[in-house]
Amino acid sequence: MTTTTERAVGQPIERIEGPDKVRGAARYAAEYQVGDDLAYAWVAQSPVASGTLNGVTVDPLVEADDVLAVLWHGNAPRLAEADDPELAVLQSERISYRGQALALVVARTFEAARRAAATLQLDIAEDPHDTVLRTDHPELYAPEKVNPAFPAATSSGDVDAAFEAAPVTVDVTYSTPALHNSPMEPHATTALWAGDDLVLYDSNQHPPGIAATVGALFDLPPERVHVITEHVGGGFGSKGTARPNAVLAAMAAKVTGRPVRLALPRQALFSMVGHRTPTIQRVRLAAAEDGRLTAIDHEVVEHSSRLFEFAEQTAVATRHMYAAPNRRTGHQLVRLDMPTPRWMRAPGEAPGMVALECAMDELAVALSLDPIELRVRNEPSVEPESGVPFSSRHYVECLRRGADRFGWHDRDPRPRQRREGDWWIGTGVAGATYPTMAQPSTARVRRLAADSYEVSIAAADLGTGARTILTQIAADALEVPVSQVRMRIGDSTLPKASVAGGSSGSASWGWAVTGACRALRSSSSSSSSSSSDEATFDSSELIEKQEKDGKHAFGAHFAEVRVDAVTGEVRVSRLFGMFAAGKILNPRTARSQFLGGMIMGMGMALHEESVLDPAMGTWVNHDLAEYHIPAHADIESIEAEWLDEQDDQLNPMGSKGIGEIGIVGSPAAILNAIWHATGVRIRDLPARLDKIL
Ligand code: MOS
Repeated sequence: MTTTTERAVGQPIERIEGPDKVRGAARYAAEYQVGDDLAYAWVAQSPVASGTLNGVTVDPLVEADDVLAVLWHGNAPRLAEADDPELAVLQSERISYRGQALALVVARTFEAARRAAATLQLDIAEDPHDTVLRTDHPELYAPEKVNPAFPAATSSGDVDAAFEAAPVTVDVTYSTPALHNSPMEPHATTALWAGDDLVLYDSNQHPPGIAATVGALFDLPPERVHVITEHVGGGFGSKGTARPNAVLAAMAAKVTGRPVRLALPRQALFSMVGHRTPTIQRVRLAAAEDGRLTAIDHEVVEHSSRLFEFAEQTAVATRHMYAAPNRRTGHQLVRLDMPTPRWMRAPGEAPGMVALECAMDELAVALSLDPIELRVRNEPSVEPESGVPFSSRHYVECLRRGADRFGWHDRDPRPRQRREGDWWIGTGVAGATYPTMAQPSTARVRRLAADSYEVSIAAADLGTGARTILTQIAADALEVPVSQVRMRIGDSTLPKASVAGGSSGSASWGWAVTGACRALRSSSSSSSSSSSDEATFDSSELIEKQEKDGKHAFGAHFAEVRVDAVTGEVRVSRLFGMFAAGKILNPRTARSQFLGGMIMGMGMALHEESVLDPAMGTWVNHDLAEYHIPAHADIESIEAEWLDEQDDQLNPMGSKGIGEIGIVGSPAAILNAIWHATGVRIRDLPARLDKIL
């Protein structure tokens, strides 16, 4: 028996694949050398946001020996019906958004494919388009549900009467722009057919999901599709489901009879793989003189596409953050001539908590109350809308301990008080929350020779450290050192795993891994002769029985900013996050997850903005030179800490997800600090210097 001090879980173990990544030995989807006849594909994208594609003409001078095929809806193989209409690539003459794949060139070389695609003549009849989100749009409607399956609207008590009666109210509208996930590794697929079976080296967050989705399009059962996803250079939600690159590569390989590689160029990521919807959010808060909220109202306007109803759950976090007897949340959508919005890190919570947590700061000012004290006074005893008790909630502890660590206590609450040279200095705070979820998964463990074990699950490691954490979990459940565990992931033929999304990967896969390893131990320790060298565990039944409500991670962000009085430039001189997210499985990889989220939140507050040109019907800053994500030079002092939170109602590890909570609340803390520094409220993100001056 190992003792508790020797447990692997909780140790800051370095990423198992780290040395391979540093040496360049780790292979990504577009790096597999498959066969001597590998062909390359390039997508010709729609130059209009709405219209009809009537024909494609290939320049005979360009269609030289190097070009193997030019596919479009006039000649592409027919696909079976797709659940996701954006995957019905090259199937219809209809153009639904600018950037849509209209043709695919397959050539012997990458350069030949790209050059031929540039010379294609697309015969398009253009229609008028509408790509602008606005609150007075005549086609706004209220969806029934928001993602993943929440009611779109909730209401309790009498919100309007509470506002009439309240001594202090705020009524503010915040807007957030469209944002793009921008993983370092672009979406890429290397596809080949092995007889009637399809093999995809694909960059994604869910190998079994990709196998099922792409398989269905080609009339193949999932087991006939082999998706290999050994390493992933980030996804942030944009690789959660199959994207058009996987389907196009498979189609091209089928038509040419060769392996085909399709790596989307950076600019194509801005239209082909999803974005975070822009939002316009009205938040109304009513409070008694003592700061107790009497009403909360959060109403959201956002968009989807002509193809698909994707309804981001922007106001859902507001349903459990603060107590108030009268409450209302709602979402309205408009279907625009745009690509479909998709998941992007903390979809819903990240933009929604900007509005709520900035509105709380505005209310604190209106009440002349410390913003931490205001939040503490509105701490609910149970989940306000469901009435379900929280499995654990240490929000107030995060605020209080965070305040101690950050040095909040001698803060002058008045804005525009502290100036050093050209710089105004201010501090801000905001809350964080993210749901705690687990999804059914299956894992298998085998005892190999010499007391080593192979543990298998079709999970994807996006660079977060999932492979390492699962090794730690398996080692503890087997009661062996991590050196005796070999973890196999990133392959759809392994036991079925849920998506690396919703901050649920470690909880979901770790649960299955723990179950399998414990089953193997109990079978080998039993006195019966049936002891086995292999065990499999499926967590579906246990997860179905679980209470789903009342489970959330919490946190508090603290920001100090300097704002240049002459130029309006904002520097975040300190960013600090205090989290309560259950058992932290690996402090090294967890810290990276928290900091990565906080940095992405800084991008949301200050830098990131997909700028729409309504005339073209698309975003004009579609590359990393013009779409600004924070760089090292933007980061000064940044740190994350966490409470030692025990929660035995979650999963065998007692962990909550940590991949997304870092981006929730950190933008609001920065915006609140900008107000404190300058007296300027930025209600339209990002906080560009022209809005501050
Ligand atoms: Mo995350 S946006 O749920 O992959």
